[in-house]
Amino acid sequence: MSKYSIILHIIILFYIIDGIQGCSCSRPHLQNNFCNADFVMKVRLRGEGEYQYKKTLVNVDGSSEPVEHRHPIGFIYNVKILNIYKLNENDAGLTINSSAAVIHTPPNDGLCKVDLSIRTKYLVTGTISDGELWIYLCSWGTPWAWITKSQKKYLKFTYAKNCDCKPMEDFYRGSTLDESKCYWKSNSRHGECYERHTACIIDKNSTTGGCKWHRNKRLRTCRAEKMDALNSFFP
Ligand SMILES: *[C@@H]1O[C@H](CO)[C@@H](O)[C@H](O)[C@H]1NC(C)=O
Ligand SMILES: *[C@@H]1O[C@H](CO)[C@@H](O)[C@H](O)[C@H]1NC(C)=O
Repeated sequence: MSKYSIILHIIILFYIIDGIQGCSCSRPHLQNNFCNADFVMKVRLRGEGEYQYKKTLVNVDGSSEPVEHRHPIGFIYNVKILNIYKLNENDAGLTINSSAAVIHTPPNDGLCKVDLSIRTKYLVTGTISDGELWIYLCSWGTPWAWITKSQKKYLKFTYAKNCDCKPMEDFYRGSTLDESKCYWKSNSRHGECYERHTACIIDKNSTTGGCKWHRNKRLRTCRAEKMDALNSFFP
């Protein structure tokens, strides 16, 4: 199968699923996303994004002349690369010295298209296949302004060394604790603190290769603030 026919099959599959639920996914912890991604970069658009079409010749009934039909197979952004935090070996010709790239995303929201605007800086994470960079709504296409100071530090120094450790929603825990996971409840009062202010790191004191949440001041402050908010709500 050619690349396009594979993509087309996926798109058709998504259209079927789309009819039921659209693009639905919970966004994973940035650390998990970083570890699963082929690339993690800070970027800015060099212009508006545009659709990419595939043309096919279709024989319409009663006509001997095939008619050209074009349908969108993707949406592409030309970006300026401001920083690269992770880059796997790839067939897209991208190196740590690259200053520009073309990023692909699906052509509509039901397929998890990521909408990026000009003049905004973004953190994008995604995969590289067949020489193309792809991002989906279920990964990250997040305004840089939303990234916390802790996350910026972890992007540079921490996530890459701790990919054996994984943040995991308590919801998926099951009955046994897995030592390589750090659990948190996204819907709890402190959930956001764990999502945005800490990372799951190797516990150097563990003899069994366990992991633990990185304790830091911002995590403590965040937890305290959420506590205060609750206390003022129930005086
Ligand atoms: C990136 O640039 C540096 C400095 O110019 C150079 O030494 C290095 O070989 C380059 N790396 C790649 C992968 O192009
Ligand atoms: C690690 O273990 C040593 C020795 O048992 C202990 O003194 C130290 O406080 C522990 N560190 C952490 C971060 O738990």
